[in-house]
Amino acid sequence: MSENIMNLETVTMDEEAGALVIIDQTKLPDTVELLSLTRQADIWDAIYLLRVRGAPAIGVAAAIGIYLAAKDIETDDYESFYAQFKAAKDYLASARPTAVNLFWALDRMEKLVTDNADKSVAEIKTLLRDEAVKIKEEDIRVCRAMGEYGLTLIHDGDGILTHCNAGQLAAVKYGTALAPIHLGHERGYKFKVFTDETRPLLQGARLSAFELHSSGVDTTVICDNMASQVMKNGWVQAVFVGSDRVAANGDACNKIGTSALAILAKFYGIPFYVVAPTSSIDMNTPSGKDIPIEERPAEEVTQMWYKQRMAPEGVKVYNPAFDFADNELVTAIITEYGIARAPYNESLKEIFERKREESF
Ligand code: MRU
Repeated sequence: MSENIMNLETVTMDEEAGALVIIDQTKLPDTVELLSLTRQADIWDAIYLLRVRGAPAIGVAAAIGIYLAAKDIETDDYESFYAQFKAAKDYLASARPTAVNLFWALDRMEKLVTDNADKSVAEIKTLLRDEAVKIKEEDIRVCRAMGEYGLTLIHDGDGILTHCNAGQLAAVKYGTALAPIHLGHERGYKFKVFTDETRPLLQGARLSAFELHSSGVDTTVICDNMASQVMKNGWVQAVFVGSDRVAANGDACNKIGTSALAILAKFYGIPFYVVAPTSSIDMNTPSGKDIPIEERPAEEVTQMWYKQRMAPEGVKVYNPAFDFADNELVTAIITEYGIARAPYNESLKEIFERKREESF
């Protein structure tokens, strides 16, 4: 392994090369490889193929990606520039449907274009570059703030169970659900973290276990179907997960299996925390049922990780990438503006009011 990923930013921009730079997460944990992407088709593929994944990281990649598209548009005419910008935006937006950060970041970049229609195209391009950098830098501060809030909910020595990867690899630094663990670890807390392997794409085993273990956190990988057993053993004091989209009513959509974990946590009386920046909270989506759930290729289940096929050729496969924890199972939602508790329709509105008053 050449580099310690904890010293790297997961997503960044190389301005000189006009490139989006990412850690290729499909190669982890064996190889830490940085990819420098300049073509829009390669950026789209990187998002779709999960070379860059996790809601905040996808948002930052999209912001940098759309700036790179905009900078190459060859016209001085605003209408023509805007039409081409929209086409590039729609293309990147089609890469994945569930994580709202993708649309949040692209909409934020588009608003900059429409709010500055009176400026020259060259000026708009500069504003877009500055905004992409701002979105990336904000992500680091936001994750750190959520880490601080999350840390107030746990204690030295706690057992914590997490699902998928909502760590540094899912953002630029720190991550969402793993931010309290990284910050606590820096301060000498000794957590015992259980990472669900997270079938079918193994983000827990390949990514969370990798980043926690390489940071020196006590980490144990379990198969997803072992969560009940470790909870029954009394080894878990809290569940921490991220979210791809929190609906206005607090239903929290996240990697497939999150719903089952929330149900288990309720049964065992273990707090179930969702750590999600406001960029992952979609007040325009009333409930979890309204969130589009991505379905991915059957091969991810039947053969991707095996030397030979593990299901009969031609058998039907259902492969939804996400589900949602019903709001009544969510103990609290930790945002960069504080901790929201039920009833979420009200507490999330208050979080956005705070956001209007103080920006990050
Ligand atoms: O399919 P993925 O790997 O992009 O799914 C990611 C997750 O489900 C994460 O838990 C979620 O994006 C929150 S990340 C901070």
